[in-house]
Amino acid sequence: MKQAPFKFGEVVSGEHFTDRDEEIKALHNNFVAMQNTIIISPRRYGKSSLVKEAVERFTRKEKGYFFIFLDLMYVYSEEEFYNQLATRILKTTSGRIEEFIQLAKNLLKGTRVTINTGTGEPSLEFGLHYVRDNIEHILNLPQIIARRKKKKVIVCMDEFQHISRFEQHENLQGRLRSIWQHHKDAGYLLYGSKQSMMREIFHHANSPFYRFGEIIYLRRIKKERLRDYVQNAFHSTGKGISDEICDRLIDTVENHPYYLQQFARNIWLISGKKVTEADFDEAKRSLVYENLNFYNELLEGLTTYQVSFLRALLNEEKHLYSAEVINGYRLGSSANVRRMYNGFVDKGIIIKENGRIIFADPVFKLIARQRFLTQ
Ligand SMILES: Nc1ncnc2c1ncn2[C@@H]1O[C@H](COP(=O)(O)OP(=O)(O)O)[C@@H](O)[C@H]1O
Ligand SMILES: [Mg+2]
Repeated sequence: MKQAPFKFGEVVSGEHFTDRDEEIKALHNNFVAMQNTIIISPRRYGKSSLVKEAVERFTRKEKGYFFIFLDLMYVYSEEEFYNQLATRILKTTSGRIEEFIQLAKNLLKGTRVTINTGTGEPSLEFGLHYVRDNIEHILNLPQIIARRKKKKVIVCMDEFQHISRFEQHENLQGRLRSIWQHHKDAGYLLYGSKQSMMREIFHHANSPFYRFGEIIYLRRIKKERLRDYVQNAFHSTGKGISDEICDRLIDTVENHPYYLQQFARNIWLISGKKVTEADFDEAKRSLVYENLNFYNELLEGLTTYQVSFLRALLNEEKHLYSAEVINGYRLGSSANVRRMYNGFVDKGIIIKENGRIIFADPVFKLIARQRFLTQ
């Protein structure tokens, strides 16, 4: 059997990637201009994929750049941050292990290189006081290496908001900013998911990263592009999907790239040569089922007020703070509404997009609708 032409849950590029032409162009120009960039969106909107695709296309055209990738998802302390940053820099800019060791010797005196016996991958071991005594130097590595190799270096940091979980992260942020801004041959691309935290870092006038670079808010994918993408994927594997069902598929997931791929995959797996209504319904049920676990805990922990608040949102009430809505849905008080609103924003359940409050996760919305609106 052929493989499903849809992919989700990992970074996509190439044939599984669509749209984002404007963002890719903007990133290209920013790489050339060494303009720092920040990308913000809820999780699973396609930030990591966008960066990967943009970098792949860029490096096919332009030579003389090193792209260094660091994902802060699993970096839990400032120490680890320095260690991983230095390791990634050396790994990316050295061809072979010998060169890695040589670079470490020359540039990071006092560290040890260990080679993982399983994978053969080198990593750095910092002594007890090494980091404390060499923070500035480590942060200057991108610039130092760029000069040394006569290339430009672009450091891409994913899930950048995690920096806020380090102790004394405000100091770190200040330090990063003050050092990075002097780097003539190194640029920074910082992207992350928790919108409220990313905003905190990049939007507040008294935050060190205020006006650090161009901010790109990534949106969902345009309907026409998704339609082409889905239609092509079905056709190229010998199946057909009508415009009508295809549009309904896109509308159900509200143009959300991750769920579009998941839903389309589900339809593809059960359909024959032509997608039927029954296929659509069954695939939608599995979409909900597959994601239910993720939300069970949250759903069970909701207070009566929160459920009422979600009901008002599901009914697309525009004036959440009006007496009519507060009384009609028994939301308590406007202070209570504000509190719930902030709570759901912090959890990444709802977001404000183009001035409207929307559910960040369309499948959560489907589930909530089934639970709270159908009694
Ligand atoms: N440009 C795109 N075209 C098609 N699918 C995409 C695109 N961007 C993201 N996706 C889908 O969304 C999923 C999540 O993308 P990802 O880049 O991991 O998002 P984020 O980094 O914002 O959390 C991917 O696995 C893929 O299924
Ligand atoms: Mg990501």
